[in-house]
Amino acid sequence: GLAACGSGGGIDGGDGDGADGGDIDVTSADTVWRLAFNQTEEHPQFIAAVELGEALYEATDGRYGIEVYANELLGTQADVVNNVSEGSVEMMYIGGPVMESFNEDFIVFNLPYMFASIEAQSAVFADTEVTGDLFASIEESKGITVLAALFAGVRNVYNAERPIVEPEDLDGLKLRVQQSDSQVRMIELMGGVASPMGQGEVYTALQSGVLDGAENNETVYNALNHDEVAEYYSYTRHLMIPDYLLMNTDILADMSDEDREAFLGLVPDLVESANTGFLEFIDESIAASEEAGAQFNDDVNVEAFRERVAPLVEESISNPVRQDLFDSIQEYNEQFPAGS
Ligand code: GCU
Repeated sequence: GLAACGSGGGIDGGDGDGADGGDIDVTSADTVWRLAFNQTEEHPQFIAAVELGEALYEATDGRYGIEVYANELLGTQADVVNNVSEGSVEMMYIGGPVMESFNEDFIVFNLPYMFASIEAQSAVFADTEVTGDLFASIEESKGITVLAALFAGVRNVYNAERPIVEPEDLDGLKLRVQQSDSQVRMIELMGGVASPMGQGEVYTALQSGVLDGAENNETVYNALNHDEVAEYYSYTRHLMIPDYLLMNTDILADMSDEDREAFLGLVPDLVESANTGFLEFIDESIAASEEAGAQFNDDVNVEAFRERVAPLVEESISNPVRQDLFDSIQEYNEQFPAGS
């Protein structure tokens, strides 16, 4: 469930008692940044952020530390991103769609069936020629720096009523989506009724019947106990969207060159740790959900869903910036096709 606590001692990625992390108390750093996260302390992104804080503390001789707040303690992503923009929260992880409120061109990375493979997606985000201008746009306008894009699984639909095979099966089902217009439109086209909200409210809404289901990767489904209240998980595979690690631009700029360089040099380790951990976390999550009685259905007419959402893709590629992003993705999709 959603335990309302932060990371406590800061480097304790496990049970929250602060005892098993090692000897460094990163909260004793001269400057302690807060990093907001909306999922549990078992999540590889949480663990990777704790590791980053520890490595940063060491690399800067205790000048900087990071305290990671799990379980949406600092607020929903849609709220916290404003705090990061103002600098009252230094860092956060955010799901791609929430970025659309700052620059709608981010939508290209959040469209259904956009990336052919994990490899294609990571190649796109490793290519700063593709992402550079888009990311820089929100530094200038919002004071937010994108430090990294991370693999965040593949999203599928789940609900309490039935396995989903065809779009018609979603008829009348109210499904939670992330807080963005593109996600609402996507679920409507897929055949369901969309309800945007922050992650923390979803379990209760499912339990009380306000929602029939949601769409997410297997890790959220299990870690947030949605499998208990929505037993049918169906592989529509409609989204592979990134999470971003964000930081307030001024706070980054205010570091000494030496400290900033040390910090930025540690970010690739976080990406590696989080992405590798995520793949393992998916397998563990599926096993645990099956144990809890969830039913995974892979007999889904994915082509029918793809056709349904095609208008969203078409209407979203509506300016030259988005067209360029789209074209770059297609190049990497050809290089790294499905199953490659
Ligand atoms: C995923 C994703 C998060 C996102 C969440 C959600 O877990 O990694 O960034 O916030 O889904 O659906 O809200």
